Amino acid sequence: MLKQLSFSNLRLLSALLGALVILQGCSVLPKDEPLLSPKVESNVEPKVVIAHRGASGYLPEHSLAAKAMAYAMGVDYIEQDVVMTKDNQLVVLHDHYLDRVTDVMSRFPKRYRLVAGKKRWFAIDFTLAEIKQLKMSEGFTPDKTTKALTAGYPNRFPLFKSSFSVSTLAEEIELIKGLNHSTGKNIGLYVEIKAPWFHRHEGKDISKAVLLELKNYGYTRKTDKVFIQCFDPIETKRIHHQLMPTLGVKLKLVQLIAETDWFETFTYKHGKAIPYNYDWMFKDDAMAKIAKYADAIGPWKSMLVNDESTPDNLIISNMVTQAHTVGLKVHPYTFRNDPGRIPEYASSFDDMLNIFLYRVGVDGVFTDYPDLAVDFVRRSQER
Ligand code: G3P
Ligand code: CA
Repeated sequence: MLKQLSFSNLRLLSALLGALVILQGCSVLPKDEPLLSPKVESNVEPKVVIAHRGASGYLPEHSLAAKAMAYAMGVDYIEQDVVMTKDNQLVVLHDHYLDRVTDVMSRFPKRYRLVAGKKRWFAIDFTLAEIKQLKMSEGFTPDKTTKALTAGYPNRFPLFKSSFSVSTLAEEIELIKGLNHSTGKNIGLYVEIKAPWFHRHEGKDISKAVLLELKNYGYTRKTDKVFIQCFDPIETKRIHHQLMPTLGVKLKLVQLIAETDWFETFTYKHGKAIPYNYDWMFKDDAMAKIAKYADAIGPWKSMLVNDESTPDNLIISNMVTQAHTVGLKVHPYTFRNDPGRIPEYASSFDDMLNIFLYRVGVDGVFTDYPDLAVDFVRRSQER
């Protein structure tokens, strides 16, 4: 029948169908469906819970067990920190060295580099086959003389118990996609590209490799359930302006925000590593600059609520307001329920979440305790 319609009839039909779609859209949308732009409506969208390194409050960070546990707890996204091996494989590790969470020191005692006088066993100096031989544990620090290990979080999973190993990004994606298939849910990935400045200095383009791996597993569009995060703004801009267009992908990007003196990011000048200066990210025009290449920011939570705050006097920065004004989502890190990890101005873990999610107005949180955050958000939305 369409074949018999003239061009002008087709245009009329098309206009009528368009109007019908708009009218139907208006009538069926729930009252709070975002008819306005996200920057105005962001505070009424469901809050997002991101499992920080998995359910890392309960099981060793970045173990597949911790990821499966987070999945079962009902999170929206599960985080992967990604570094590269000597043979260009992508592995899920928070640090670009192996010695905080594996037995690499005893297995390969001589394979370290000296960094400011400290021995560090870099993942990039080991093949995947070597890394797969290592036992993975909850994080620890060895005593300089006795070598006795002290747990970073004594109340968490005991050191070197049971059996965990470093996984590849592909293994983790297959776990999450497999669970999405078997449960019918659509839980997302939240992938951090770790130290791209370091990897590129070592001749490895980790960002390109991560994007290609995601593309390989079908993550190519902004609407796909994946965020890519990075602390290095030079790299985040490169991903947006060069890598994604070249590779034919368009994924959501998050600019993580650090303090300069954390030495999170470096640039190389005449072979010398210079700390990247983050000062511009705390100025009034910063969010507008970031919105040109990113979809969200990931600030440290103390950048939003000053640690000097009291229950009666919360000192809230204007970062969230400024971010929302230019359409950026805000996902601060990291919400922990361990002793000493709840700021003085909050009376409990719930109170801390309430302050950030509903008073400061962030769009989601990174947490080591996904069950508590999922439960809090559910109770809040039922109210
Ligand atoms: O990526 C968000 C948060 O994880 C940043 O902190 O050091 O735990 O990767 P970090
Ligand atoms: Ca991270």
